Amino acid sequence: MKILVAGGGGREHAIIKKLSECRENPELYAVPGNGGISKIAKCFSDIKATDIEKIIELTKQNKFDLVFVASDDPLALGLVDEIEKIGVRAFGPRKNAAEIEWSKVFSKNLMKKYNIPTAEYEAFDSFESAVNYVKSGIKFPIWIKSDGLALGKGAIRATNINQAYDILKHIMVDKTFGDSGNNVIIEEELVGQEITVLAFCDGKTIKPMVSSQDHKRAFDNDKGENTGGMGAFSPSRIYTEKIADECMKNIYIPTINAMRNEGRAYKGVIYFQLILTKNGVKVIEYNARFGDPEAQVVLPRLKTDFLDIINAVIDEKLDQIDIEWEDNAAVCVILASGGYPVKYEKGYEITGIEEVEKLDGFTVYHAGTATDENGKFKTSGGRVLGVTAVDKDLPSAIKKVYSEIDKISFKDMFYRKDIGVK
Ligand code: AMP
Ligand code: GLY
Repeated sequence: MKILVAGGGGREHAIIKKLSECRENPELYAVPGNGGISKIAKCFSDIKATDIEKIIELTKQNKFDLVFVASDDPLALGLVDEIEKIGVRAFGPRKNAAEIEWSKVFSKNLMKKYNIPTAEYEAFDSFESAVNYVKSGIKFPIWIKSDGLALGKGAIRATNINQAYDILKHIMVDKTFGDSGNNVIIEEELVGQEITVLAFCDGKTIKPMVSSQDHKRAFDNDKGENTGGMGAFSPSRIYTEKIADECMKNIYIPTINAMRNEGRAYKGVIYFQLILTKNGVKVIEYNARFGDPEAQVVLPRLKTDFLDIINAVIDEKLDQIDIEWEDNAAVCVILASGGYPVKYEKGYEITGIEEVEKLDGFTVYHAGTATDENGKFKTSGGRVLGVTAVDKDLPSAIKKVYSEIDKISFKDMFYRKDIGVK
């Protein structure tokens, strides 16, 4: 069996690693992949995950049996639809279902229509109407969000009218996030701890995975810029069985039913960003894929054969399979390039990866690495590596990861020292 994975970050490394452990022992390929992925899969490193035409060509040439679309951009471009058109199995939501991530206006309107708890909001398609709204005596702080994909930077908090004006100008007039800013959502601020729950869905049945939490800010104690994620841990300490039941009833099942009802049956992995407010759990946003770095702490805990689940999703037989998880905990700490997420250098040699990898309970996921002509790893991105340690519980996993992480080094490397502590 030949499987192609579209994407090239830490999440894709975690997916490919898990696939490499499957009973069927598939042949693995990636576009574009990265330095770490190239050790277990053949990488077509000059093909971007968004180059739909080239991926279709590649799939025909190599006779892939399955294409796993792991990252947001190709999902939004409809790669799943195009793969299906040539008669090949694809894992991931079709374009019209992935809209739950690539359009915030769509997802907020869906939640409103189906009574799925979320922040109160208004949607705007012109700068003038949005500005009039923020001047109309609304309560601050508010969150202003560009409609489309914006590299995780499209949600900005404003505490007063002047700030809101500047943010709206930035998004809607200066088009800092491109066409993604043609429409915006303005919503109330919700207060509470955030949890990520990923779930497998086959259009009808939804099976949540173990919970996780990520750390989005660059520095300790949630200081610094928003990033793609500086670390994650699983399970969340605050996601109790009672909360899980509430979410199943008020959020997960209603979301899947809503999508089916809209003629957009959701198949693949859905990501619920939840916030535990004093008025119950609400949805901050949906993503149409595994989170990064959440995948690096959730997938290592999966006991059931990953391909069995993937096939059950595609064949709409998720109700017929039991998904089992290890009763343990995982912590992933991201090693980033100095200056990330603003400005950083690339091309530095990385040492110590093998030393950490051979330790029991450790996996080093590559996010931004490339190999040089001698096969040595070099940095090639802002988030470079994700070091995951698995142990019996969170305190042990946290202690474990931090006791060994300094064995890895590259010039200007930095990481947060408080992953898992919240
Ligand atoms: P999003 O791009 O919608 O995931 O937002 C990114 C982050 O911004 C979230 O993970 C939250 O930490 C924060 N955020 C977004 N919307 C709100 C809101 N309405 N209230 C509080 N925090 C928010
Ligand atoms: N960790 C957040 C995301 O994957 O969008």
